[in-house]
Amino acid sequence: MSLIVVTGAGGGIGAAVCARLLEDGYSVLATDLAPEPALAKAPSLATAYAEGRLSYLPVDVTSEQSVAALEEYLRQLGRPLQGLVNCAGIVHTAPLLETSYADWKRVNAVNADGVFLVTREVAWLMLEQADTDPTNSRGIVTVSSNAATTPRTEFGAYGASKAAALQVSRSFGLQLAAHGIRVNTVCPGTTRTPMVTDPWDGQDLSAQPIAGNPASYRLGIPLGRIADPQDIAEPIAFLTSPAARHITLQNLTVDGGATF
Ligand SMILES: NC(=O)c1ccc[n+]([C@@H]2O[C@H](COP(=O)([O-])OP(=O)(O)OC[C@H]3O[C@@H](n4cnc5c(N)ncnc54)[C@H](O)[C@@H]3O)[C@@H](O)[C@H]2O)c1
Repeated sequence: MSLIVVTGAGGGIGAAVCARLLEDGYSVLATDLAPEPALAKAPSLATAYAEGRLSYLPVDVTSEQSVAALEEYLRQLGRPLQGLVNCAGIVHTAPLLETSYADWKRVNAVNADGVFLVTREVAWLMLEQADTDPTNSRGIVTVSSNAATTPRTEFGAYGASKAAALQVSRSFGLQLAAHGIRVNTVCPGTTRTPMVTDPWDGQDLSAQPIAGNPASYRLGIPLGRIADPQDIAEPIAFLTSPAARHITLQNLTVDGGATF
């Protein structure tokens, strides 16, 4: 079965994407910063890991060397690569006037540079494997954010990094379209993952993002709930699959109507 690579796979959305792709029958190479695959402890993924349908490689998306090692690992595997999901990301919450240059560079290194480095290496490999894809069905999906298109005072550097991720993915998509490789983006809104819940210190502060905060230009969530990671994994699985064979260069916002 063909293989899909997921970055940031140890996170809330990344793990849900792995689980969803495994359900569809793909083999998944999960990657994240940790030396060992924390995700294999999740019951839904443990079986697939034991069976070898799910494998793990530590990859730091900000390191050209680490991303080159990923490319070399995939090359040695010699299996057709069906897709890539760029999930790795970090959040930084501060208005731009209070953002240090170090924090600006840190958030852009993961969210923007990381998408560029990983997509470029994976795309080269996919180009070499063109003859394994007679149906032009290969798909790359980058997880950006609704902050890429809707500014919020607290998300200055984060929003800029996600806008870069969106646009670099579109540009890759334009270049790769002629080779039958599709590139799309998914922009989640607030989703119940450690990225969002860790700062809550054990409390449930979901009422805040659902209500919105006009002072920081937050719109709230009309559907009245914070997304579960599975809500984001569904459209990612669709866009990665051959069912989306004529969809490329598109962005799908999955945020309960928060932005439009
Ligand atoms: N949770 C939300 O509300 C939300 C909303 C919009 C967009 N997103 C985006 O969705 C993606 C997944 O986020 P999540 O909510 O699952 O967060 P998460 O914090 O649960 O997961 C992010 C993962 O990225 C990994 N990561 C961080 N830096 C990395 C690096 N240099 N190299 C490789 N991996 C790295 C982390 O180890 C972590 O496992 C991110 O790109 C995030 O910006 C999340």
